[in-house]
Amino acid sequence: MNDRTVQDVRAQAARLIERFRARTACVAVVGLGYVGLPLACRFAEAGFRTIGLDIDRERVASLSKGETYLATVTSQTVAATGARRFVASADYSLAAQADALVICVPTPLTHAREPDLQYVVGTLESLLPHLRPGQLLSLESTTYPGTTDEVLRPRIEAKGLRVGEDFFLVFSPEREDPGNPHYGVRTIPKICGGSTPACLAAGVALYGAAVDQVVPVSSTRVAEMSKLLENIHRAVNIGLVNEMKVIADRMGIDIHEVIRAAATKPFGFVPYYPGPGLGGHCIPIDPFYLAWKAREYGLNARFIELAGEVNRAMPEWVVNKIVTALNDRARPVRGSRILVLGIAYKKNVDDVRESPAAAIMELLRDKGALLSYSDPHVPRFPKMREHRFDLASVALTPGALTQQDCIVLVTDHDAFDYDSIAAHSQLIVDTRGRYVAKRANVVKA
Ligand SMILES: NC(=O)c1ccc[n+]([C@@H]2O[C@H](COP(=O)([O-])OP(=O)(O)OC[C@H]3O[C@@H](n4cnc5c(N)ncnc54)[C@H](O)[C@@H]3O)[C@@H](O)[C@H]2O)c1
Repeated sequence: MNDRTVQDVRAQAARLIERFRARTACVAVVGLGYVGLPLACRFAEAGFRTIGLDIDRERVASLSKGETYLATVTSQTVAATGARRFVASADYSLAAQADALVICVPTPLTHAREPDLQYVVGTLESLLPHLRPGQLLSLESTTYPGTTDEVLRPRIEAKGLRVGEDFFLVFSPEREDPGNPHYGVRTIPKICGGSTPACLAAGVALYGAAVDQVVPVSSTRVAEMSKLLENIHRAVNIGLVNEMKVIADRMGIDIHEVIRAAATKPFGFVPYYPGPGLGGHCIPIDPFYLAWKAREYGLNARFIELAGEVNRAMPEWVVNKIVTALNDRARPVRGSRILVLGIAYKKNVDDVRESPAAAIMELLRDKGALLSYSDPHVPRFPKMREHRFDLASVALTPGALTQQDCIVLVTDHDAFDYDSIAAHSQLIVDTRGRYVAKRANVVKA
């Protein structure tokens, strides 16, 4: 770069940074799901003119009426956001008005468990005709190290924009924890890595105007990998504790009592809890983004693969416990009435993505069980990519409970009345360690 160009770059970045600091900038959030919607609400609340873009026209219509479609974002929040210069739309041409574009679209796996970047690439292709000099683009979707600089940057530069000179590119991973009452978008520190130092400065200014703490890192790759480390750390430790559960069970030891005891150590121990298998959009999926990329470098991510293997085996292990518990009561699974408590992937949320409940129900259906479920957060069993059940949530009356041959506690929502369930059920298979005291009708799984 000659002196003239350096000055131009500095001036371009400085103008953008000033607009972020003064909150006179316009921010477009693309993908209004569990991550994008709360983020768009936060930018609007912080004082930015905010555009929410989504290809789902029903979602756009709901937001335009001030209505929510996520249990984790209230209609009051959406209505207040709408009153604060927020517009939801499916029209990508609005992207040209934005100073910052923040991409929050899904990053699933293909059937071969490889990264599926079709939503990220598709979103960028739709945005490209509307990009212009002076904008910042931030990718928030969880992905492997290298995505921002290897997949996004070349496509942006092919349009004639120069990243770090007249266009700014960052990766800033989302750390949303739906249903967590203690942390929200504003209070969760935000990591940000730029393609160039000028990109990073613009990214830090954008997020610094909307969240309490920004954590700048030296590259987009560091930012991408830090998010993966957070989720891999959880996946591997949950895999470890699930393996410990299987061993403890064979030895006649209650793993939950073991964890409670170990957790009294005031240093050097972090409790993780076993369960029926991993669920949600992140923990079962993200680790394999890194495992895939590591292969490009001739490396096997052995902890990731092993944890995946242990965690994926959990639904089958739980079903074997159900089969044994029914057998001990002289009942075959075929023809038994089995009610699943909680089908969301974790407690107190309505999200069923990758929920182990579906895998458990499928295995039980294959064995001929007569299935029903109860989940106050999921009134109808939703259409899932790999599972179909034409079922609606059942009310947990004493009569409904008594009729069941087995109750399987998969997701321990706070809304359940556990005493009433125990009092009226013949057999409970508890995958969450919710029933602490020994009971004749409770089997831990
Ligand atoms: N859900 C979480 O708790 C969480 C936490 C941290 C990170 N993440 C990551 O954030 C990303 C988004 O996850 P999510 O849970 O918000 O997904 P989501 O499925 O809830 O929402 C994605 C939204 O993007 C929209 N969309 C898809 N393609 C689009 C396109 N081409 N243009 C515009 N909109 C499009 C969809 O209609 C949907 O509304 C993923 O990479 C995920 O791994 C999620």
